[in-house]
Amino acid sequence: MLVTQQPVLRRFWYGLMPMGDLAAGPKAFTLLGENIVLWLDADGKPAAVQDRCCHRTAPLSMGFVDKGAIACGYHGWTFDRDGKCIRIPQQANVPPRIRVPAYRCEERYGHVWVCLGEPLTGIPEVPEFGRPGYRVIDEFSDTWDCNVMRLIENAFDNAHFSYVHAASFGNQAQPEPASLTITQKEWGFVMDTVVPVRNDERLKATLNMDVAETMRTYQKTWWMPFSVMMRLSYPNGLVHVICAMITPIDDKRLQFTQFVVRNDTEAEAPAASVIAWDKQVTSEDRIFLSRCDWDVALDLRAPDEFHMAADRPGLEVRRRLLELLRQHGETEVRLPGRAVSGPQSMAAE
Ligand code: FES
Ligand SMILES: [Fe+2]
Repeated sequence: MLVTQQPVLRRFWYGLMPMGDLAAGPKAFTLLGENIVLWLDADGKPAAVQDRCCHRTAPLSMGFVDKGAIACGYHGWTFDRDGKCIRIPQQANVPPRIRVPAYRCEERYGHVWVCLGEPLTGIPEVPEFGRPGYRVIDEFSDTWDCNVMRLIENAFDNAHFSYVHAASFGNQAQPEPASLTITQKEWGFVMDTVVPVRNDERLKATLNMDVAETMRTYQKTWWMPFSVMMRLSYPNGLVHVICAMITPIDDKRLQFTQFVVRNDTEAEAPAASVIAWDKQVTSEDRIFLSRCDWDVALDLRAPDEFHMAADRPGLEVRRRLLELLRQHGETEVRLPGRAVSGPQSMAAE
């Protein structure tokens, strides 16, 4: 699927970056191939319009914020958060038809969320956020040379721990993936699984548990199309909720922004250790995911890849997204020559 060529994907909310990233001025971002500019309006709320001035096409992100509106750096035309031009410094009147496309933009969980179209659903819910006894740790916001589908599938893949994460929590002596259950939801699914983890010294510092191995109970929620909330709980009562905003920049790149919500304290586990551990784990994934093909087939009849039984959650993501496309009158767009046009042999199970 070429994510930039499927219009229905524009109808979901995507987490782009921490609010703090807008403190210094306007910021450019590319979402699903669309260049946008983000800034803070007069109320401190995030705003988003197309990053192209409708005068001579200069990027508005090269401009500046003027009383909560975005001013173009080239001739000073100024636009409000609805995209309406409110000032042309060189003349007294502003014809009302002068505007740039504006997008829905909101703050949630201390992050900036944008939807490029009419939203089909809301921003993913994180029940633990703001709950008494829980703290929030902003972990990172990084650009990866990787297709979004690769990272989504990886998030639900129990079969890679013993290999990709052999240097952290994976146990190479136990390559058999833990069993799992999937519960379908209207806008995604919930996957439950319990996984043994090697409690490496760095992990011990974040779990506050001095044992060689422990069990991690996962409840992972897939929010269609590309958000993941993973609730990890441990025998000592620790709950670590990972909120992963996996946002498609274009077909080949993604912005991966992550924060966690935990029911412990800084004295029990320093935030720096928690961040360092999660960065270690995701960096292990990144090495592989950024080298995999970026045009991922939703249609399982495509001959590009073979599958195994343990791939079930990822295949479920593909099936549901293909169904979404069909519901909205779209067919899967792929690189030339790759689209499945008729019956083909099924890839092996
Ligand atoms: S290009 Fe933006 S004001 Fe002229
Ligand atoms: Fe992983």
